[in-house]
Amino acid sequence: MKALIYHGPGKKKLEEVPKPSLREAPDAVVRIIKTTICGTDLHILKGDVPTVAEGRILGHEGIGIIDETGTGVSRFGKGDRVLISCITACGKCEYCRRGMPSHCEQGGWILGNTIDGTQAEFVRVPFADTSLHPIPGSAEEDAMVMLSDILPTGYECGVLNGAVKPGDTVAIIGAGPVGLAALLTAQFYAPASIIVIDLDDNRLEAAKQLGATVVINSSNGKAVEKVMAMTGGKGVDVAMEAVGVAATFGICQEIVGAGGHIANIGVHGASVTLHLEKLWSQNITITTRLVDTVSTPLLLKSVMAGKLKPKQLITHHFALD
Ligand SMILES: NC(=O)c1ccc[n+]([C@@H]2O[C@H](COP(=O)([O-])OP(=O)(O)OC[C@H]3O[C@@H](n4cnc5c(N)ncnc54)[C@H](O)[C@@H]3O)[C@@H](O)[C@H]2O)c1
Ligand SMILES: [Zn+2]
Ligand SMILES: [Zn+2]
Repeated sequence: MKALIYHGPGKKKLEEVPKPSLREAPDAVVRIIKTTICGTDLHILKGDVPTVAEGRILGHEGIGIIDETGTGVSRFGKGDRVLISCITACGKCEYCRRGMPSHCEQGGWILGNTIDGTQAEFVRVPFADTSLHPIPGSAEEDAMVMLSDILPTGYECGVLNGAVKPGDTVAIIGAGPVGLAALLTAQFYAPASIIVIDLDDNRLEAAKQLGATVVINSSNGKAVEKVMAMTGGKGVDVAMEAVGVAATFGICQEIVGAGGHIANIGVHGASVTLHLEKLWSQNITITTRLVDTVSTPLLLKSVMAGKLKPKQLITHHFALD
């Protein structure tokens, strides 16, 4: 089969490799129909994620059709259309039982990280019963791919951890797919305004179309000044970091208002300066999270009901090669 292989920082190649086979009873092998690229794949290629070894097949998102199942799989059979969660969950360990499968003792974020991933024609998915979701018959495939990681990440790490509530002023730094997913799902809670900040005007234009109240291009270094002016000097209730660099975590610290939340979403490869000398007295909360994908069933229902339209995030299609 063809697969995209990581060969160290800055190096990747589409290669011919052996098709994966079943190893353990709870495994399934899935033929990939669609996959996508996460900002985290870009962090891996920058060398920010040292757990990814050279030779690894990248990718942790996708939908596909079950090709083979191990003897321990009871929920799926050959030919079923499935959504692959970016988080593999054994369903039994302490972390899975606590609703935090991102730290599953035998799973977590392993696809395209410590085991081969989904940017390939086939992938082996461990613990298939608890790591795959059935795709409803009438679902649009493109929209489903956004549920592997992008939507649950924006929602869990950004909106839920940021505790967005009605009337809030929310700022999202980073208008990539994950920032835009946070923008879409923040609107479940009717915040008064959502400010989206990025360096790329095309992405800011997309943010406007998806419901941003105000967009700011921060390339002139004036984003903080603008947000403070817009909020009468008070700052925002929720600042979400959806880039994964020190500069944008810095913006979050400068614009968060008293009693506010900084919800970090980005994967960071370098340390940041924490300004406790300013923040200690501001009653703020800082959260971090590796997505758990525990919200996937809820988000899937919202998509099927037409309340959430992730297909809007998709602009380009490519063949695997
Ligand atoms: N916590 C998790 O579980 C989890 C899961 C998935 C993705 N992520 C992370 O979320 C982040 C976003 O993912 P994505 O797929 O949207 O990435 P992306 O690379 O597509 O988007 C990042 C955006 O940030 C903008 N940007 C870059 N530098 C900036 C700066 N200095 N100021 C303002 N904007 C800047 C870029 O223009 C781009 O639009 C990444 O760090 C990714 O690794 C985390
Ligand atoms: Zn990801
Ligand atoms: Zn587990």
